[in-house]
Amino acid sequence: MERKQIEALSCVCEPDECDTFNFMSKKLGINVLHPGGLDATEILAERCGISENMTVLDAGCGSGTTSLLLAKKYGCRVVGVDIDQNLLIKANKLAYEKSASDRIAFRYADIHDLPFHDEVFDGSIIQATLIFTGKNKALQMLSQKIRPNGFLGVIELAWKSNPPAEIVQRVRNVICDAAVNTERHEDWIDLLRQAGLDVVNAELKDLGFNLFGMLRNEGIFSTSRIALKCIFNETIRRKTKEITNLFKETKKYLGYGIYICRKR
Ligand SMILES: C[S@@+](CC[C@H](N)C(=O)[O-])C[C@H]1O[C@@H](n2cnc3c(N)ncnc32)[C@H](O)[C@@H]1O
Repeated sequence: MERKQIEALSCVCEPDECDTFNFMSKKLGINVLHPGGLDATEILAERCGISENMTVLDAGCGSGTTSLLLAKKYGCRVVGVDIDQNLLIKANKLAYEKSASDRIAFRYADIHDLPFHDEVFDGSIIQATLIFTGKNKALQMLSQKIRPNGFLGVIELAWKSNPPAEIVQRVRNVICDAAVNTERHEDWIDLLRQAGLDVVNAELKDLGFNLFGMLRNEGIFSTSRIALKCIFNETIRRKTKEITNLFKETKKYLGYGIYICRKR
């Protein structure tokens, strides 16, 4: 299927309209909502060269798990922004409970119109959020807020090759419009370049689900709670199975990319 045909079938949807996002976040209580989980975030952080004394923007920070990881493991300061007030409350609570409030600030802000001076951040990361945005505008805005030679690290769904119409429809039905709104791997690279960024590393990976990943992302207590929900609630069990089956069945076409960029 050609790119124009994919675009015709897709439209940007709000995070609130994304069934799967709401299901995972609100019904299951999953906090880490990007492909690859925190293991992928660590790869991203290391490739970006995140270190102490840096100030990093976590764009679309959700419930703050990545911001916390960056502050705790790499010692940087983090500003997390999101348009979901409930997730920001959760994020603030997490930073407070983990004694990281001195290094992390969360703020309500739309990525299309960030309320910061230009070039104030050493870099930014954005995970599983660009698909909900007007990608060009969001990337231009992020690039504007990063200092020259600063980094942008992206983790996002990516088409591995042009999907046939039935695969697009299946991804839309099971996940949502926003998932279909993703780009082919090479088109992400073009979009990043158009935003004034040099793409220094780009890797395409398979989507998947495994228990160890969930334990790593959510911790043993939350993982047990999620497992119990899957065991005792048939609707939850069915939806979870539908998502994991989708990943397997669309493996040839749908994966995720890790992109490391430097601002020119
Ligand atoms: C799939 S979640 C990913 C959350 C987090 N980055 C993670 O990896 O767990 C997408 C997040 O992007 C946020 N978001 C979507 N559009 C946004 C926008 N225009 N500005 C700021 N945040 C946005 C949503 O509220 C949601 O928290």
